[in-house]
Amino acid sequence: MSLARLWESLLPIGRDDPAGGYRRYAFTEAELACRSWFRAAAAERGLDVSADRDANLWAWWDPPGAARRTGAIVTGSHLDSVPDGGAFDGPLGVASGFAAIDLLRDRGRVPASPIGVTAFCEEEGARFGLACLGSRLLTGTVDPGTARALRDGAGVSLAEAMAAAGYDPALIGPDEDLLGGIAAFVELHVEQGRALADPPGAALGVAAGIWPHGRWRFDFTGRADHAGTARLADRQDPMLPFAVTALAARECAARLGTLATFGKIVADPGGVNAISSSVRAWLDARAPDQAGLDQTVATIRAAAERAARDHDVTVGVRVESVTPPVNFDPELRDRIVAVLAAAGIDAPVLPTGAGHDAGVLAARLPTAMLFVRNPTGVSHAPAERAEPADCELGVTALAAVLEDLACR
Ligand code: GLV
Ligand code: MN
Ligand code: MN
Repeated sequence: MSLARLWESLLPIGRDDPAGGYRRYAFTEAELACRSWFRAAAAERGLDVSADRDANLWAWWDPPGAARRTGAIVTGSHLDSVPDGGAFDGPLGVASGFAAIDLLRDRGRVPASPIGVTAFCEEEGARFGLACLGSRLLTGTVDPGTARALRDGAGVSLAEAMAAAGYDPALIGPDEDLLGGIAAFVELHVEQGRALADPPGAALGVAAGIWPHGRWRFDFTGRADHAGTARLADRQDPMLPFAVTALAARECAARLGTLATFGKIVADPGGVNAISSSVRAWLDARAPDQAGLDQTVATIRAAAERAARDHDVTVGVRVESVTPPVNFDPELRDRIVAVLAAAGIDAPVLPTGAGHDAGVLAARLPTAMLFVRNPTGVSHAPAERAEPADCELGVTALAAVLEDLACR
């Protein structure tokens, strides 16, 4: 199957040795090399390839003689990664899209509607902080001016990074023409927990929906001082209310049946022998429903404010992104389950706590997701995995879905 060849050619790009994780951040050298890989895969297949105004990539297999692109069926995912991310989160969906087209062509199928493969820009938000940036811009759920002004950890703005990579930041924003030509989006993705690894143990799943989730930045501001001379009673140490808040997040999530994680903190100025002047910490919170998410964030925020007062420190909290609950189109989901069953593939329907561009597009289009089993249950880390046989079954399933939706 062509998936193996596509995969081998992508695998070395942006991999950090010796940890083995990927650092493919939007518009960096590694991510631009992934974009070249996409363009080469499209060119090798004779697909029409372009970037949209938001730097999302598109490769099209058009019906013979089609004058306009309407009623298109699109698949794909993203090529960027979290810091030291796994190989599969995102790229598996893009490579599987190309491989599914190969499979349909091998069988002599010709599309009646355009089939697209896409790679969305900055899905992880690892560089500019806003997850699913490319699909949010495309659908108009983020203001282009706000997006242009986003800055990475080194102070480089999105506008500057785009311009340096050869994209025009003045153009970013919603693209109704492009969206209006798409009838459905089906994203294949590695499963990111143990939902398929544990019984029933199916190789593939179909998404029911996505938990509501978001990111909040907590800024604790204290007073810098000497670690060896400042008396404990005199300190305004922002690390202490942060520590209390991190523990409160864990306790609150366990009590409410939600998830709350501080995965990134920056202590300034960062001297080992000094009390920090400030601590910035990012909360990622997710819950089965909106009420649970709201309660989780409110509880953690209250804990931070209490702890800040106790330590004579100030705290400010601001939201960086929120994604409301997503229920994927039930008609499309049931149709996909039936197509897979007819192909002899039993795929349970599962919810997920992971965010995806499909969740953003779901507000505008019939959207669905296929999951490929992850035997480690680990994701956003180098141990993320999917077996070759399961990945190939994923391509078979995706081809069956594209054939059903676009080839008659
Ligand atoms: C993206 O993968 C997310 O769930 O944050
Ligand atoms: Mn991810
Ligand atoms: Mn992903």
